[in-house]
Amino acid sequence: MEQGEQELRIPRHVAVILDGNGRWAKEHHLPRKLGHKAGCENLEQIVEDAARLGIEYFTIYGFSTENWKRSEEEVGALMQLFRYYIGRLREVAMANDVRVRMIGERSRFDQDLIDGLNMLEDVTKNNRGMTFVLALNYGSRDEITRGMRRLAKDAAAGTLDPEDVTEETIASYLDTAGMPDPDLMIRTSGEQRLSNYLLWQLAYAELYFTDVYWPDFHREDLIAAIRAYNQRDRRFGGR
Ligand code: IPE
Ligand code: IPE
Ligand code: MG
Repeated sequence: MEQGEQELRIPRHVAVILDGNGRWAKEHHLPRKLGHKAGCENLEQIVEDAARLGIEYFTIYGFSTENWKRSEEEVGALMQLFRYYIGRLREVAMANDVRVRMIGERSRFDQDLIDGLNMLEDVTKNNRGMTFVLALNYGSRDEITRGMRRLAKDAAAGTLDPEDVTEETIASYLDTAGMPDPDLMIRTSGEQRLSNYLLWQLAYAELYFTDVYWPDFHREDLIAAIRAYNQRDRRFGGR
């Protein structure tokens, strides 16, 4: 911990929309896929930083349900990177006692990738440090739709009484079942929108936007976001 960091109140759950890989690549006169590679390398580092800071849940938006509409070349390059970084993330997770959990609809990926994601969850499931949540082929509306389809089936089958449906019931049908809602949502690269991210779960989150492109978002930027959160949040007596 560096000076002044001891007094930081660390949010329990931080959710990030990593954005700006493409613009970072353009700025460096590189092809887009090298921007994504730099973004994945940065992810490895920041997961470790977040775990060491004592964040309990760290959720990253890696690929949205809308991202399939990008060029075949870009989607293919992203899938190749995911294949490689599943292995890297396994090492980072094991070295930092991090448990990995995926949200989103994994069945659309190729079988080897699905196997890799299942393996990553399985080998890290007994880790007791931070939970790193990877949102892949994730879209909030898709998540809510899938969840409500299951809820309707349970009601039709008679195992769920419609009169008993509460906010907690709805939350329990989402991919994030059992996780606390995010306290802080960070989006990099200057865009100020949610892009179908955690619409239900972000109901009360503080929103923090930075112009920094994702590959350049490092530990000090995460600290700056947490500081801003500490200053804004007065519910628990923050300054
Ligand atoms: C974020 O970077 C990575 C993914 C969405 C997969 P972008 O690829 O969206 O980067 P920009 O927005 O074009 O700069
Ligand atoms: C949001 O970023 C999705 C992810 C970070 C995975 P995008 O760059 O795809 O979002 P839009 O399309 O600009 O809203
Ligand atoms: Mg983008």
